[in-house]
Order: sequence, then structure tokens, then C-alpha cells
Amino acid sequence: MVPVHVLILGGTTEARRLAELLVARLPAGSRVTSSLAGRVARPKLPPGEVRVGGFGGAEGLADWLRSHRVRALIDATHPFAGTITFNAARAAAAAHVPLLMLRRPGWVPGDGDDWHPVGSLAEAADALPALGRRVFLTTGRMGLAAFAGLDGLWFLTRSVDAPEPPYPARMETLLDRGPFTLEGERELIRRHRIDVLVTKDSGGAATAPKLAAAREAGIPVVVVRRPPVPEGGAVAGGPEEALAWLTDQFSG
Ligand SMILES: NC(=O)c1ccc[n+]([C@@H]2O[C@H](COP(=O)([O-])OP(=O)(O)OC[C@H]3O[C@@H](n4cnc5c(N)ncnc54)[C@H](OP(=O)(O)O)[C@@H]3O)[C@@H](O)[C@H]2O)c1
Repeated sequence: MVPVHVLILGGTTEARRLAELLVARLPAGSRVTSSLAGRVARPKLPPGEVRVGGFGGAEGLADWLRSHRVRALIDATHPFAGTITFNAARAAAAAHVPLLMLRRPGWVPGDGDDWHPVGSLAEAADALPALGRRVFLTTGRMGLAAFAGLDGLWFLTRSVDAPEPPYPARMETLLDRGPFTLEGERELIRRHRIDVLVTKDSGGAATAPKLAAAREAGIPVVVVRRPPVPEGGAVAGGPEEALAWLTDQFSG
């Protein structure tokens, strides 16, 4: 394989793992740059080069790809980061750079699960009053406004950085970042007498124990479905598959 400059659109555990893998395995002379949106005050930084902040839309990203001689773009952003994913597809096409989307598979319900799939945070908020009174809301600090009007419910939320209003009037926040354990999630549900869980279908192992804990406790789970992604592009389920795709692109 020839040396290449790879840009990873990151902000996820998989993106960091991918950067680790590529820094270790790409041929000498290669460059691995991870891009972070800058939402988290003190992010866990991946190895390789790191840049922080938006590009200025698809055109800005295309300019960045050209001016930094990027040979491959890997969109390893969170499944719910819909804007950057569409920008990546447009920018890669404009700059003639091959694009791979790295996406962990979504979660699937098992025996004993009581899941209520919804299309958005607003729909999740609409569904809640019929399902419980004490809510473990794990959809991140950015979407709390959707739940701000639910004065009859109490919320436990969890985020890396403290949330800013608007958010629910009756709310306690845990500042923490995954991965989380089954014991820990079980204890949170018990201690706070949680009777309904709200989650995005993020997929992956790091935040999955809450689903098993909810199943054990016999409480319903409101699951926000993933937004659409651009059609027809290359997709990998994990970092090793992404490395295989790169090797395929740049060998021979
Ligand atoms: N949404 C979630 O639930 C979630 C959960 C965990 C982690 N994250 C991570 O947090 C970041 C922001 O998520 P979001 O939902 O706000 O994204 P988004 O709505 O898709 O993106 C909004 C804007 O943020 C900038 N941006 C997003 N990701 C970027 C990246 N990796 N590098 C540089 N700029 C980026 C882009 O600005 P410009 O148009 O100026 O380029 C983009 O247009 C993502 O990197 C994502 O992986 C999101």
C-alpha cells in the first residue's frame, strides 16, 4: 500500500479506535488526521494529527480535502450526526476523494424488552407521559429542550459537559462519559427509582448496558430511530473493516 493522508471525521469511540489502528498500521509517510466538532470541552484525543471545529459546510470540507491533499475520507461520526454525514458525501464527490462511512450496527431488542421506537426527540417527549414518571434520559445534553415542557415528570440525565437551558424543570444531571457497566446502570435505575429509559439507537457496546439493566428492571425503553444517511456509499461496521477498505483502495 502507498502512503496516504486519511481524514477521519470523529467524535466517537470507533473514530478514536480507527485512528489508533491507522497510526499503527498505515505505511511510513502516511498521515492520519482526526477532525472533532469541538462540542466537548476536554475530549479524549486520538493519536495522529487532530483538528477541531467546523469546516464551513460541504464546500469548506471540500476545500480542506483539496488543500491538505487528503486521499481518503472516513466519516466515523455518531449515527445521529446527520448534517456532517451529508456534508461529507457532497465534499468527497466535489473533491474526488473516496469516502467510507464507518457505522456501528444499530441495537436490536431481545426477549423481555419493552421498546417503543420513535422518529425524533419530540416524539419521544410525546410518548413519555403514558409510559412513566421518573425518566432516565440518555440522549445527550444537546436535545434536552425537547423535554423542557414535561413538568409532571422527573429526569435523570447524563452528559460529558453540563447542560445549558432550556431543559426540564425537575432534572438531576450526572457528569460522566462511557463506557458504562451493567452494575452501574442497574444501580442508577434502582437508586433513582427510574420507571422509563430514553435512548437514541446509537449502537455499540460502550453504552449498551443500560438496555440490559432496563430489561432486568422490566421498564419500558423509548428508542429514537437513526436519521437517514446518504445512499449508495461504501460502509464499514468497524475499524478493521475500514483498514481493509483503505488497503484495497491504495494497493497495487
Ligand atoms: N449527535 C449525537 O448524538 C452525537 C453523540 C456523540 C458524539 N457526537 C459527535 O459530536 C459531533 C457533533 O455532532 P452533531 O450531531 O452536532 O453533528 P451534526 O449536526 O451532523 O453537525 C453539525 C455541524 O458540526 C460540524 N461538525 C460535526 N461533526 C464534525 C467533525 N467531526 N469535525 C468537524 N466539524 C464537525 C459541522 O460544521 P461545518 O458545517 O461548519 O463543517 C456540521 O455541519 C460529531 O463529531 C459526532 O460524531 C454526536
